Amino acid sequence: MGKTGELDGLRITVLVEDSVLYESPYLAQHGVSFFLEGTKGSNTRRILVDVGQNSQALLNNMRLMHISPATIDAIVLTHCHYDHTQGVVSMLKEMGKGDIPVIAHSDIFRLNFLTDPCIEHVGVMQTDSEEEIKKTGASLFLTKDPVMLMPGITTTGEVKRQTDFEGVGIGLKTIENGKVKDDSMLDDISVIANVKGKGLVIVTGCSHAGIVNIARHAIKLTSCEKIEAIIGGLHLVGAPDGRIKRTVDALSKLNPAWMCAGHCTGFEAQVELYLVFAERFSPLHTGMQFEI
Ligand SMILES: [Fe+2]
Ligand SMILES: [Fe+2]
Repeated sequence: MGKTGELDGLRITVLVEDSVLYESPYLAQHGVSFFLEGTKGSNTRRILVDVGQNSQALLNNMRLMHISPATIDAIVLTHCHYDHTQGVVSMLKEMGKGDIPVIAHSDIFRLNFLTDPCIEHVGVMQTDSEEEIKKTGASLFLTKDPVMLMPGITTTGEVKRQTDFEGVGIGLKTIENGKVKDDSMLDDISVIANVKGKGLVIVTGCSHAGIVNIARHAIKLTSCEKIEAIIGGLHLVGAPDGRIKRTVDALSKLNPAWMCAGHCTGFEAQVELYLVFAERFSPLHTGMQFEI
């Protein structure tokens, strides 16, 4: 069964992603948001993973998909970036119920910025600050540790960097004790579900920790070696020479039954994944739904 329990079933709906399918009625935006419905026996729990970069597209798509914000039991924020966290306060207000658990890494509210092409804060915006989230009545679970959301679904917690070919994927800075330093995005967490008879389903935001590091961490955490699926952003856009090939090679050894990657994955990495995984790979789009 593994150390973190098993689900009987899992449905994942892509509420927001950078692209939509042909003739899709949904709105796309740069960012991701996933709706996970985990079932164990008669218990079904609904978890929102990230909120995209504003609640307009998210709420529009949820309305069209007949998913009510009031049904959400918990929110996971995979990392600080605005395209995953902006509008979480609006979403909490829309949910209209108090004391919703919001799970994130303990460093998520730090300053996180780019300096090229110009200084720009890309972390959690002031409108979604720790104080503003608490004002909605939500409970913030800020930790470096994995957090079990229900038996069979857990966050990764902070992911140990082990590979020598993976990195943050983007030149980010932070300020620590008054000093400007490179930001290694230690707040990057993912969600792992373990589905009975299938294996692990790994849902990522941007994979700033490196998707191979994340997958190996997931196997260690759950004691389950079989990966059913990897879904989300892999942040291989603009990756240096060799990283994409080494990543895809390592992923093929981890042998997920299928993969669906988009957002910050980048076209080159999507092509490489398709060349290796063939019909077991598909690009991620808003409105996709997976029954596992
Ligand atoms: Fe992102
Ligand atoms: Fe990101």
